Amino acid sequence: MVINDNPGTLRYEEKPVYTTSNGCPIMDPESSQRVGQNGPLLLQDFHLIDLLAHFDRERIPERVVHAKGAGAYGEFEVTHDISDLTSLDMLCGLGKKTKCVARFSTVGGEKGSPDSARDPRGFSVKFYTEEGNWDWVFNNTPIFFLRDPSKFPIFIHTQKRNPQTNLKDATMFWDYLSTHQESAHQVMHLFSDRGTPYSYRHMNGYSGHTYKLTKPDGSFNYVQIHCKTDQGSKTFTNEEAGNMAAENPDWHTQDLFNSIQDGEYPSWTCYLQVLSPEDAEKFRWNIFDLTKVWPQKDVPLRPFGKFTLNRNAENYFAEIEQVAFSPSHMVPGVEPSADPVLQSRLFSYPDTHRHRLGVNYQQIPVNQPLRAFNPYQRDGIMAVNGNYGANPNYPSTYRNLSYKPVKASQEHEKWAGAAVAQQLPVTDEDFVQPAKLWEVLGRQEGQQDNFVGNVSGHLSAAKEPVRRRTYEMFTKINGELGRRIEQETEKLAPHPLSQAAGNAQARL
Ligand code: HEM
Repeated sequence: MVINDNPGTLRYEEKPVYTTSNGCPIMDPESSQRVGQNGPLLLQDFHLIDLLAHFDRERIPERVVHAKGAGAYGEFEVTHDISDLTSLDMLCGLGKKTKCVARFSTVGGEKGSPDSARDPRGFSVKFYTEEGNWDWVFNNTPIFFLRDPSKFPIFIHTQKRNPQTNLKDATMFWDYLSTHQESAHQVMHLFSDRGTPYSYRHMNGYSGHTYKLTKPDGSFNYVQIHCKTDQGSKTFTNEEAGNMAAENPDWHTQDLFNSIQDGEYPSWTCYLQVLSPEDAEKFRWNIFDLTKVWPQKDVPLRPFGKFTLNRNAENYFAEIEQVAFSPSHMVPGVEPSADPVLQSRLFSYPDTHRHRLGVNYQQIPVNQPLRAFNPYQRDGIMAVNGNYGANPNYPSTYRNLSYKPVKASQEHEKWAGAAVAQQLPVTDEDFVQPAKLWEVLGRQEGQQDNFVGNVSGHLSAAKEPVRRRTYEMFTKINGELGRRIEQETEKLAPHPLSQAAGNAQARL
C-alpha cells in the first residue's frame, strides 16, 4: 500500500512544497516564532522543534570496526561454469547476472580517519540472488591476525585508542602482536606496502575463511574465494600514504566515486580455490586456521565470475552507511565451514546490526532481499514494510505457506565425539608462511627495505621491552629480518615525538 510518493524519488525539475515532517506547508523555514521582535520563542512552533529534535538525533552508532568506508552498486556475471561444485542460484548459468552493492573500508580508524592509513581493508559485497542475499564480508588480505574469536575484541582494543590518553598507542599495538605471534603472517602483509593500498579500486579481496560449496546430492567441497582487481594492484609507499593522509584524507572515497561517475567502472575477477574433503584432510595446512593461506601452487585458482561497480549511491547515509553485511547471510549452495572465527562472525554481525540499525535492519531498502516472506518475525522498532498485514503470525491452518526443500543435504560433515579443545598453540609452523612472504618481498624491487622502514617507523614509538619482544618475533620468521628491524628501529628509538603523542602519526 503506497499512500504517498517517496520524497527521495522526486525529480529535481519538480518544485516540491516545503513542509514540516508531518506535511504541513511552511512559509519560511529560517524564521522561528517569537513574541514580538525580541521576545522568547513559542513552544507551539512545531517546525522549529521538529527540526532541532531531528537534528539532535542525526547520528547513529558508527560501526565498531570498519567505520570509514565507501561503496557503490554493480553487477556480478558468471564467466565460467562451476555447476560441478554448487547449486548456488547466482553461480548457475554461464552469463547469468546478479545485482550487488559493495562497501570498502579501513578497519581500525573512526569515521573521520584517513583513507590511506596503514590498515587491512574491508571488502564487502552483497549479492541480491533469486534465493536471498548472499554477502561476502572479506578483507584485502587472505589471512587474519587470529584464529580464536575470543581474541577479536581484545586485539581490536589494542589497535584503537589508549583508554587513558585517547591516543593511538604503539606500545599497546606491538605488545599484543608480540605476545600473540600467530599474527606474524598478517603483520607481514600489513607492514609491507600492501598495508597501504593506492585506492579501493586497486586492491584484491579474499574470503580468508574456508566455506563449503554444496550440491543437492549432499556432496560438498571446501573453497576459498579470491577477487583480483582488474585495475591492477597498486600501493602507496609509507611516505606517500602519510602525505595523502594530510592532503586528502578521503582519497579512496573520492577515487571510487569519481571513477564510477566518469564511467570508468572498476571490476574484479573472481576465483575459487577448491579442496575436496578427502584432500583437505591430507592437506599440510589446517583449512580452518585463518592465519594460513592455501598456497596457489598446491591449490590453483579456478575462475568463475566477475563483478563490476557501475552506479554510485544517490544518498550515502541511506545506502552505504545503512548497508548491513553478514557472513551469515547465506543462500542454498553455500555453507560455513567449521573455522571458529567464521562461526563466531555468523553471530556477531546481525547482532551488531540490531544495535546499530535496529531489529528490522533487513527492511532498510539497501538490505532488502529480492523477495522475503517472514511473517513470524513481526513488529519491533521501524517495522516499515507493512508488517505482513493480516497474515497470521504463526503457522496457521488458515493460511498455507510453501516451504521449499533446502536443496543441499544437511549431512555434510559428521562430527565424532571429540574432546573439548581450547586453543591452537603457536608453533614453528606459524612462521613458515611469513618466511615465504619475506622471500616474495625480496623478489620485488625495494619491498624488503620498505617493509623494514615501515615497521621500524612504527615500532620505535613502543616501549623497550615490547620492542625487544617484537625483534624476537621477526627473528623467528627470518634471522636477517629480525636483525634489520632491530637495527633500524633502535636508530629511531626513543621516538622523536613523545610516546603517546607520536603514535597517531607513527601509525602511518
Ligand atoms: C565489520 C566483527 C573478523 C571483515 C565488522 C563489524 C563487526 C565485526 C562487529 C561491524 C559491522 C557493522 O557494524 O556493520 C568481527 C568479529 C570478527 C571479525 C567478531 C572475528 C571474530 C573479520 C574478518 C574479516 C572481517 C576475519 C575478513 C575476512 C569485516 C568487514 C567489515 C567488518 C569487511 C565491514 C563490513 C561493512 O562494510 O559494513 N566486523 N569481525 N571481519 N568485518 Fe569483521
